[in-house]
Amino acid sequence: MIKIENLKQSYLGVPVIKGLNLEIQKGELVFLQGSSGSGKSTFLKILNGYTEDFGGEVWIENVSIRKMKKFELRRITGTVYQSFELLERKTAFENVCLAGEVLGKSQSEIMGRAKELFEQVGLRGKEERYPAQLSGGEQQRVAIARALLNKPKILLADEPTGNLDPENAFMIMQLFSQINQQHGLTMLIVTHSKELVKAFPGRKIRMEGGIIREL
Ligand SMILES: Nc1ncnc2c1ncn2[C@@H]1O[C@H](COP(=O)(O)OP(=O)(O)OP(=O)(O)O)[C@@H](O)[C@H]1O
Ligand SMILES: [Mg+2]
Repeated sequence: MIKIENLKQSYLGVPVIKGLNLEIQKGELVFLQGSSGSGKSTFLKILNGYTEDFGGEVWIENVSIRKMKKFELRRITGTVYQSFELLERKTAFENVCLAGEVLGKSQSEIMGRAKELFEQVGLRGKEERYPAQLSGGEQQRVAIARALLNKPKILLADEPTGNLDPENAFMIMQLFSQINQQHGLTMLIVTHSKELVKAFPGRKIRMEGGIIREL
């Protein structure tokens, strides 16, 4: 599904990723750990096309991401962030739908899919709320629905529970785990939380010295 070969990334001449090799199979749930500054976010940014000057190769279903258009790569990889990144002046439903509108899908198709996702992430009835009217856990559920709108092949999450209290963090991880098991979606989740990683089934890897180590 994802094959990474000799991946390298430097900033201002300082190497951060130093020849990383990794394969992720379709349907795998992978937890990525690693100390602060080890290059986890850098790695995700290469996978979703926000960093392009990397060395080495990344193939998704045998296609090099260098050959993909940016919007195409971002459709294939939905991303969830620590700080939710919702638009404050849009309702939860609008935030989710916007992800489809930028790709020029029909309004009815987008709305149908968004409705289905609100159900799936446990937010039915809260579609018309603005982000400020939702709890942190609920805002992250909206962000997950948004990331899933275009049916990505891979879901990337960068510290998705970093801004949540332990209870909400657990529930969000449970939601990821459920989506993985029910829909077979391939997922790469960066997390610092050893407790959460222990609590859910999945492959555990660690970014260390610019490469990946299996745990
Ligand atoms: N755009 C950039 N320009 C220069 N240096 C950068 C840039 N982005 C990241 N770095 C550096 O690259 C290294 C890796 O950063 P990265 O954000 O990938 O770490 P991380 O593993 O995600 O850390 P954290 O757990 O704190 O989020 C750090 O030393 C950081 O300062
Ligand atoms: Mg980071």
